[in-house]
Amino acid sequence: MVGLDLGSTKLAVAVGEVNPDHSLTVLALSHIDSSGMRRGNVIDIESSARAIDELLDGVERIAGTHITSARVGFSGTSVSTVTNRATIAVTNPHHEINSDDINRAIQAAQMIPVSLDRSVVHIIPRQFIVDGYEGVVDPLGMMGSRLEVEVIIVTAMTSALQNMVKTVSRTGTKVKEIVLSSLQAAEAVLLPAEKEMGVALIDIGGGTSDIAVFDQGSLVFASVLPIGGDYITRDLAVGLRTTIDEARRIKENFGYANVNLAPDGKVVEISSIYGKDSRQVSEKTIASIIQPRVEELLELLALELRRTGYGGVLPAGIVLTGGTSLLKGIIPIGEEYLNMPMRIGFPENVGYGINQQYGPEYAAVLGNLLYGARLVNNLAGEQQDRLMGGFLSKISHWFKELFS
Ligand SMILES: Nc1ncnc2c1ncn2[C@@H]1O[C@H](COP(=O)(O)OP(=O)(O)OP(=O)(O)O)[C@@H](O)[C@H]1O
Ligand SMILES: [Mg+2]
Repeated sequence: MVGLDLGSTKLAVAVGEVNPDHSLTVLALSHIDSSGMRRGNVIDIESSARAIDELLDGVERIAGTHITSARVGFSGTSVSTVTNRATIAVTNPHHEINSDDINRAIQAAQMIPVSLDRSVVHIIPRQFIVDGYEGVVDPLGMMGSRLEVEVIIVTAMTSALQNMVKTVSRTGTKVKEIVLSSLQAAEAVLLPAEKEMGVALIDIGGGTSDIAVFDQGSLVFASVLPIGGDYITRDLAVGLRTTIDEARRIKENFGYANVNLAPDGKVVEISSIYGKDSRQVSEKTIASIIQPRVEELLELLALELRRTGYGGVLPAGIVLTGGTSLLKGIIPIGEEYLNMPMRIGFPENVGYGINQQYGPEYAAVLGNLLYGARLVNNLAGEQQDRLMGGFLSKISHWFKELFS
């Protein structure tokens, strides 16, 4: 199994295999600097494809396998979600609900007006209602005459999806499936109890902040904001009159999200734009440039959560992942702005002790493998092959979700 995460900062790939006991072994994980990507979207197919090619060549050597297909994570500001419900009559004369009834209910529920330039990426059943009884997780085999389903539908711009597929295909690699990036990250970092209680996963990368809210065990909302750690880096470069690369190094090594946390009297050597001479700047000064940008970012996240009705009300709080979750002091200031408990999400669900090795910036790519492993574990091979087909088809994805 191969997972690809095409981020704005780095392109990452993970290779894994599902063991006979259903556990996952990560065989290789590799990344290179991103190219041709901006805010989760491909903006230069040629240069992205070249970088992916190089990335895959490298990981093929490490894993000792030839990669022919990959499951690809998808992000970008065009991602949005909508919930819908539909009811069907159970046709079986004995009123025992079969998979055909479930199919029909879900197909009816996906009949929403999606504009012509958008495609459905996932249709995820949240709950079934059998003869008025709410909260049924799997109605197969239950007795009833009316089957209702509530689904969450994830859509994105068709062109953005097509460009991603085109880019990966250009390297001779088949796109097995496209999966919402934050759904994958959730696989790697969230606990089932958190999803049950109500939790928001926020993956703050370089160019985007991906939000996924879970409640009663399933996804209830997802969106992507066009802002991430690079916003902080750019402002730091201007403020310190240095290069983007140097600003990023300074941010990652000496940056604090809050001026009050930066130690007094400590100074950092910063090279100038021309790289010839260097200056000394205090860590307090560096933090004073970073903090306002962090506050703006958190303000936008708080606004987005309030807009959807989940601001301040999720019992399991926020799990922060992605590279920017490593910014020193981001948790306390994040808790203050989002008004909920917060923790950093390391990809601990992957197991095999690799959580010691890999940071939160690999949550999405490692979660990609876990997502794939769950499908392998839950579907018979033949059925899975059939369903893995047209990823852009409007009826394929719910089925995988349904049995996961
Ligand atoms: N120790 C650190 N402290 C602060 N910021 C960090 C640290 N390590 C990485 N970052 C920042 O995290 C960002 C990259 O995160 P990540 O690798 O998750 O992004 P990405 O997945 O490539 O991008 P995106 O998901 O936005 O498309 C960069 O802005 C980087 O500077
Ligand atoms: Mg990312």
